[in-house]
Amino acid sequence: MVQTDRGDVEIFETPADLAAGLAQLIADCASFAITERGAFYIALAGGTTPRAAYTLLGEEPMSTEINWDDTFIFFSDERCVPPGDPQSNYKMAEETLLEHIKIPPHNVHRMRGEDDPAKAAAAYDKILQQDLGENPRFDLILLGMGPEGHTASLFPGSLPADDGKTLVAAPYIPKLKSHRITFTPRLVNNARRVAIATEGAGKAPMLAAVMNGPLRPDLYPVQLVAPTDGELKWMVDRLAASELNT
Ligand code: 6PG
Repeated sequence: MVQTDRGDVEIFETPADLAAGLAQLIADCASFAITERGAFYIALAGGTTPRAAYTLLGEEPMSTEINWDDTFIFFSDERCVPPGDPQSNYKMAEETLLEHIKIPPHNVHRMRGEDDPAKAAAAYDKILQQDLGENPRFDLILLGMGPEGHTASLFPGSLPADDGKTLVAAPYIPKLKSHRITFTPRLVNNARRVAIATEGAGKAPMLAAVMNGPLRPDLYPVQLVAPTDGELKWMVDRLAASELNT
């Protein structure tokens, strides 16, 4: 583990080791939160990196070790597509994890990507306040990092305005020619712990820029992730870490 002023960095030899480490982190956070507070609130990341970790959680022994009755699953962002669309982050989580575990359906909160984006974001914002209070504090928020430095659906040039209260926004992303639904930095940074999982040589230049370069969250939105009273943990494989000053 390398400690930096931009979060702790754990480097794994291979993507498989990273997946095992991420799955174990989730299981450990769940066990601690349920023991301490009787519930575990997690927000899943989308994209491809977390697939392998979710798959491990959906298999024995982890699938039966975690107390899913007291686990509440949310999503840190979603594409504006129906849940059955191959692009859906929910669909990815459903295929790898949700359909393999005994979790009460009402414990899983899907962002409705099929609805009007602004309405879907507002509805999710309301659910978060109903379930976690007006200042929601997740036990664990999972994120990834895009090659251009985005995280969740916080993209350079398309950051939602920080009005100090919005938890979930629906920015239009010009390069994607689409809206997205996303947690805002305010919500992310209120978490007890944020884990950013990043792998592959393709992410190495951006990871080095984000960790070792100037603070430019306008260019690299993942630099907005800085929990105010919580831990930021980067979980990266050797290839993604290959340009880091470690
Ligand atoms: C999404 C994700 C996004 C993702 C990064 C990394 O909806 O695409 O939330 O923020 O985490 O783009 O994606 P990969 O894991 O596929 O590299």
